[in-house]
Amino acid sequence: CFLYTHTLITDPGLLGSLDIEWKPPPSGQTFNECTVKYRFEYHSAGDRDWKVIFTKKLKVRVGFDLSRTAEVRVQTLLEGRCTEDVEVESDWIYATFQVPLRGKLESEVQNFHCIYHDWEYLKCTWQPGLLTPHSVHYGLYYWYEGLDHAVQCDNYVQEQGMNIGCVLQNLSQAEYKDLSICVNGSAATALLQPLYVTLRIHNLAKPSPPKQLVVSMPAPEELHVAWTPPSGKTPPQCLEYEVQLAEDHGEDKASWAPVSTQMETMLTIYRANQSHTSCVRVRGRTNMFCADQGFWSEWTQECFSVSRKEDKQLFILVPVILSLSSSLIMFMLIGQCKKRSPAGKPLHASAGC
Ligand SMILES: *[C@@H]1O[C@H](CO)[C@@H](O)[C@H](O)[C@H]1NC(C)=O
Ligand SMILES: *[C@@H]1O[C@H](CO)[C@@H](O)[C@H](O)[C@H]1NC(C)=O
Ligand SMILES: *[C@@H]1O[C@H](CO)[C@@H](O)[C@H](O)[C@H]1NC(C)=O
Repeated sequence: CFLYTHTLITDPGLLGSLDIEWKPPPSGQTFNECTVKYRFEYHSAGDRDWKVIFTKKLKVRVGFDLSRTAEVRVQTLLEGRCTEDVEVESDWIYATFQVPLRGKLESEVQNFHCIYHDWEYLKCTWQPGLLTPHSVHYGLYYWYEGLDHAVQCDNYVQEQGMNIGCVLQNLSQAEYKDLSICVNGSAATALLQPLYVTLRIHNLAKPSPPKQLVVSMPAPEELHVAWTPPSGKTPPQCLEYEVQLAEDHGEDKASWAPVSTQMETMLTIYRANQSHTSCVRVRGRTNMFCADQGFWSEWTQECFSVSRKEDKQLFILVPVILSLSSSLIMFMLIGQCKKRSPAGKPLHASAGC
């Protein structure tokens, strides 16, 4: 009943965001007493679900995975007097968009990974695609909302003169937003397929290990463990910690056992068995209040040799006690034997000795 002439998709060169415009329903129809709004849906080819936006505007900018075909559809929703207050939907109008892809799929870079270290810098690495000539030159470009245009990496990680990674600093403005990245390449003899990814860097954070881990024993059955948050720009309130304990029970080989996962930076561990040596290790990662996921830091480890201290004391005390008591015994024996020796019994043979 009411249709549009066309829907236009344009690529502003932001590595993922596309602009989609459409025309209002033909003006021949009068919707004066009705509100006109649009139901806009979009996804990248292969996704099952569509993302939905309701709007009264005739233009949206949304993000896609540009390595796949962008698919959109729009329908008009009318409601008001002209439709007797029933919401009326038009048919869908579909449109698709594909960046001019270049080269074979096997020429795309592989094993692309990024880690946001200490919320300070993002390090991304990749490996050359399978079908890649030696003379290839890779470039990484990125964009997030707030930048006028896509920016090229200015600090590449290189291996034998080839760019195989990039370190991006100063991305705090990109936290909690979509960061669009494209790794493309050029080679004299072949066209290469660009890689497109969209990241949320707060979900890729890896903190440094916790610092100043101190283990103490206020009572024989208690271990008190405390540490401070890692250095770097990781917000301390964004961290959770995992604590593990290994106790050395004489012959048994100590193995790590989980004790706690917590946000506090101290913990008291109650120990059923008072072992010789207790080792505690702690690592951190972003907690669920700040991100969906993240990477664990390396461990910080500290051992506390409770009994070794006692052992040392024993080691000093026992000989003292032994020598004291033996000289006392000797003294008593000598006294006794001296008394007895007049009876003619040899000292060493004396049963009493
Ligand atoms: C970090 O980025 C901001 C804009 O997001 C810019 O104003 C500032 O100069 C940058 N700082 C450094 C050290 O590059
Ligand atoms: C790689 O992508 C950037 C950003 O879209 C573009 O400016 C550049 O020309 C591309 N390079 C190649 C070799 O395709
Ligand atoms: C304590 O030690 C005993 C014997 O070494 C062992 O059987 C038991 O499982 C230990 N308990 C704990 C809580 O480690």
